[in-house]
Amino acid sequence: MKKLNIMTDMPLPKRVKVIEVGVRDGLQNESLEIPTKTKLELIDKLIDSGLAHIEATSFVSPKWVPQLADQKEVMESISKVYHQKQTTISFPVLTPNMKGFDNAVLAGAKEVAVFAAASESFSQKNINCSIEESIARFAPIFSKAKALNIPVRGYVSCVLGCPYEGEISAEKVASVANLLYQSGSYEISLGDTIGTGTPVKTQELIHRVSQQVPLEKIAVHFHDTYGQAGANIFAALQMGIASIDASVSGLGGCPYAKGASGNVATEDVIYMLNGLGIETGVDLEKLVIAGDYISQFLKRKNGSKVANAILAKN
Ligand code: HMG
Ligand code: MG
Repeated sequence: MKKLNIMTDMPLPKRVKVIEVGVRDGLQNESLEIPTKTKLELIDKLIDSGLAHIEATSFVSPKWVPQLADQKEVMESISKVYHQKQTTISFPVLTPNMKGFDNAVLAGAKEVAVFAAASESFSQKNINCSIEESIARFAPIFSKAKALNIPVRGYVSCVLGCPYEGEISAEKVASVANLLYQSGSYEISLGDTIGTGTPVKTQELIHRVSQQVPLEKIAVHFHDTYGQAGANIFAALQMGIASIDASVSGLGGCPYAKGASGNVATEDVIYMLNGLGIETGVDLEKLVIAGDYISQFLKRKNGSKVANAILAKN
């Protein structure tokens, strides 16, 4: 039997920061064209539920991700409506290079995220460069962001498996996470891009990464392809992780990771955190309304079990 060498009797966090990634990670993968106004309506509903961190879009090439080609319109509208109200809600956007960063700032972005991978093959497929080249590409983003007082989040993909290379070592993940952290990321989000992780592997990974990046600077980002995301999140909470990415109604996937399904559903995460007595500031009923809105638009069964259970009762 597998025995874990890691202390997991830490108290669970009292409060968890939930980062809603559905509008970006979710909608980047949809075949249906989604009008900008539908994205903005979804963002409104997510805000109404109390979510305070909503990834809005990506300033990537529209040739690579046509679903997010309205990045400028989305960010400008957010900026007009919410930034002018001096809201504390953050709307991070993904920026793969300086062109993306500059466009994001011009459109009004006040927080960005860079994204690297722990797998060479995935890095090539996703952003058309090696891991080392990606870190070098991000360097000017970090320095300009610092000058402009713009926080930068760092993603590492394929932390528990790669669609092209299979197993990825925790060592490699820790080294890429550390490079992003040393470059100036305020938080490192560990992405289980294809959802192959399991709870003990999750804990071993967090343990290894936390030797290089402080635990309180680590977030987790699980796709639920193998139905392990809830268990993995609980395993992460037991390690003291208090920052979780999730996607309303389980939208999502990565266009450069074939077969990758949606992120863990935000409704399911909130339900679990409520049950554990962990504060999130999110109203589950209102969140279900947001998820139902986008599922109906996509003419798709809601990907959240919790949302389906609540909707069936009403
Ligand atoms: P490239 O083709 O190597 O770029 O793409 P390039 O520098 O050679 O430029 C080629 C053309 O793209 C030029 O235009 C550039 O101007 C343009 P042309 O002269 O041919 O007309 N270009 C851009 N246009 C708009 N915005 C930009 C930009 N940069 C160049 N920022 C690039 C390199 C990184 C741009 C491309 O590979 C790309 O956009 N990749 C994005 C892939 C992506 O978004 N993947 C999904 C997000 S990652 C993810 O989902 C994982 C995550 O959720 C965590 C997890 O689950 O693991 C975060
Ligand atoms: Mg993802």
